[in-house]
Amino acid sequence: MPGNSFGQSFKITTWGESHGPALGVVIDGCPPRIPLNESYIQDALDKRRPGKGGVAETTRKEPDKVHILSGVFEGFTTGTPISLIIYNKDAKSSAYDSLKDVFRPGHGDLTYYEKYGIRDHRGGGRASGRETAARVAAGAVAQAILDKFGIEVISYTVALGGVVAQKRELSFIDQNYFFAPDPDVVDKMEQRVKEVRSSGDSIGGVVETIAKGVPAGLGEPVFDKLDAELAKAIMSIGAVKAVEIGAGVKASSMLGSEHNDEITPDGFLSNNAGGILAGISNGDDIVVRAHVKPIASISKEQKTIDIEGRATTITVGGRHDASAIPRIVPVCQAMVRLVIVDHLLRQFGQVIDWRLRDRG
Ligand SMILES: Cc1cc2nc3c(=O)[nH]c(=O)nc-3n(C[C@H](O)[C@H](O)[C@H](O)COP(=O)(O)O)c2cc1C
Repeated sequence: MPGNSFGQSFKITTWGESHGPALGVVIDGCPPRIPLNESYIQDALDKRRPGKGGVAETTRKEPDKVHILSGVFEGFTTGTPISLIIYNKDAKSSAYDSLKDVFRPGHGDLTYYEKYGIRDHRGGGRASGRETAARVAAGAVAQAILDKFGIEVISYTVALGGVVAQKRELSFIDQNYFFAPDPDVVDKMEQRVKEVRSSGDSIGGVVETIAKGVPAGLGEPVFDKLDAELAKAIMSIGAVKAVEIGAGVKASSMLGSEHNDEITPDGFLSNNAGGILAGISNGDDIVVRAHVKPIASISKEQKTIDIEGRATTITVGGRHDASAIPRIVPVCQAMVRLVIVDHLLRQFGQVIDWRLRDRG
């Protein structure tokens, strides 16, 4: 199975299964002398962690404690590969026994079987949301570099099950379970989750990510456009079905005079471009939205087939979220961090050489 790596200059490779003993990531290309310790990475993981007891959430309780195995010495990166490991502690694989020979609708069960002829039926294996813990850990390492450049990446929920945030109060995001930027929608979101959960169903939503302080000039002009890279990064997260940059799908119904961001000596008058023009960052905020489907594991009975192709029905047991939101929010943040740091190193690789950097 190729395709477990992402990035060019800052390259991550994730490994491990949802119900294996552990999962983790190897990071190749992190510059030396970046301050880094386990608690910095842990802070990011704690946001994604299952079992915090929120209303939308799986009852699987994972401490998601990260251990640094290599690449860090006395609180600083050494420039050698960084290996991070997270042990799975609460995998109750027996809950998946009944799924061994049937395919869950909306999951990768059928396609994995068609492709490999063998699959780890316990919790989706590599397709599981648990794989994203490794991405979040790598994203925290990326942020440690972005910190040096004053670049901030913020992700938040702008819609959940049809409840749409109207405000963007970024200081409120960490004060509510859904990471919503609008105090007026939190109760409505909670209510919506309770309704769908009690009916055995699930809901989707939209996660927006803003990157502030990104210098102009990141992104390569043809196939590695910054928006193309972001789209791939976000679309590679399970359950994401569409990605928007800036005005996104609204652009197709706007006039050119409305969509163009006029330029003044003080900067752009609007940001419909989402901070990227011709695949290159323009110095404005980068704005990316991920449209997330309702999660597939629902307790309503649905039609499916078994591995012999015979018709059957399925009701998915086990411990599942009612929505991938809010746990997917830190994952979107991590993927945007990874793309920006990769392109930062591609653009300014030499400048980041410690002898130049530490001279100021
Ligand atoms: C953080 C995170 C948590 C997820 N949790 C669940 C879950 O509890 N139940 C579920 O059915 N899908 C969950 N998913 C989504 C599945 O992984 C995904 O829908 C599935 O692998 C099929 O892939 P696709 O939706 O991209 O086609 C989660 C995804 C993420 C990113």
